[in-house]
Parts: sequence; C-alpha cells; structure tokens
Amino acid sequence: MTLTLTWHGHATWAIEFVGKRILVDPFFDQNPAAKAKASEIDSDLILVTHGHADHIADAVSIARRTKAMVVCVYEIAEWLGKQGVTEVTGMNLGGSFLLPYCNVKMVPALHSSTLPDGSNGGVPAGFVLTIGGKRIYIAGDTAFFSDMSLVGQMEIEVAILPIGDLYTMGIDDSVLATQAINPRFVLPSHFNTWPTIAQDAKAWAHKIKSETPADPIILAPGAAHQFASFKAAH
Ligand code: NI
Ligand code: MN
Repeated sequence: MTLTLTWHGHATWAIEFVGKRILVDPFFDQNPAAKAKASEIDSDLILVTHGHADHIADAVSIARRTKAMVVCVYEIAEWLGKQGVTEVTGMNLGGSFLLPYCNVKMVPALHSSTLPDGSNGGVPAGFVLTIGGKRIYIAGDTAFFSDMSLVGQMEIEVAILPIGDLYTMGIDDSVLATQAINPRFVLPSHFNTWPTIAQDAKAWAHKIKSETPADPIILAPGAAHQFASFKAAH
C-alpha cells in the first residue's frame, strides 16, 4: 500500500492512507510557505502538537467544516471545544488513541505551548503514528533530548524533525536526533517559513547522509512523497 506524505510548508503535513486524510498542525492562510488555503483542505483526523498559532491557526475552521476528529493534549482539547469544535479527543503524554486505521501515541516534546489568546495550552507533544504496519514519528516543535532514543526503540520508518533552529532544534541537533531515533527516512520541517528560521536543506541532507544511516527526503512546500512499504492493516 502506498502512503502519501505532503508538506504544506512550515510544520503542516498531510498523510493519506487507505482513503483517510490525516492533517498535522494546520497552518495555511497566514503561512507564507503554504500553497493551499485552509478552505481547500479536507481531513478525517487533525493532530495538533501544541498551542502556538503557527500550528493551530486553521484547526478550528477546518475541524468545524470537515467534522474531522482533532486529537491533541487535554488543555487544547478543552479550548477547541470552546471554539465550537465538537469532534475532539484530549489526551496526554504517554497515552494512545486507537482509530480503525491508525494508532496515535502522544510523546514528549521540549518546547512551550501557550494558545493564541494566551490560554494555557498544556504541555507540547510529538506523535508516533502506527499506520500500515509502520511507525511515523512527528516530533513537533522541540529541542533535541536524549529520550528520543526511546522513540527510536519503537522502530520508526519515517521521522519528521524540525531543523529551523531559533525556536526548535537546528541542523546539527537534528542529526543527533536522527542518530537517536534511527528512522529509515527523515524529513525536515519548521524551516524557511520566515528569514529567522532559514536553513539550507541540501546541507542538512548531506549531513544526514554522511552521519546517519537514514535517507533524507526534502520536499518543496505543496509537494508529496509516496512510501510504498506500508501495509493495509495497522
Ligand atoms: Ni511552537
Ligand atoms: Mn512552531
């Protein structure tokens, strides 16, 4: 089975598998890198890693229109409920939420998480998705921390890591993270949206190739990559 991963720029990703559409950190209309508008996006499941506007800005409008289930930390789930989002599941670090096509495990991230109106967004998170018999690690906004090696024990097929620096880990730490996680494929996220997080993705890919066993995959905003190794059942 083919799993399609699309980068919408910044930290916004879409996963399509067995006809289901999973959207991560929807940030379209104010995202200088995005090619799509929030109003064009369909989704069955929306994952939000933390409360910052560059990760949640379009979650409310897409969730209300599509009735997609939003999965996020408990405090953000409560906040989304107050914004009129009805299909929402709050969880917390270490927990898992099982859907028919995917298991969502919430894992730690080292960052902050205030919501756009100043409300408490709880703790920031990453996700490990078990889908099609493989695992995808979405690190979210985070520093590198050595417990990423515990995520590595889960046998990660695809890792999505921030490389922008300033607000998250940069290129050098993303190489350390890749060594700790040991994924088969790694994709860079959270860079080139603004000048403050400009990075040379080709230099990053060269470092990944020379210092880790992982295969780097660089997407342009709006572009997709197809992974052929995923199976029909999770
Ligand atoms: Ni953030
Ligand atoms: Mn961010």
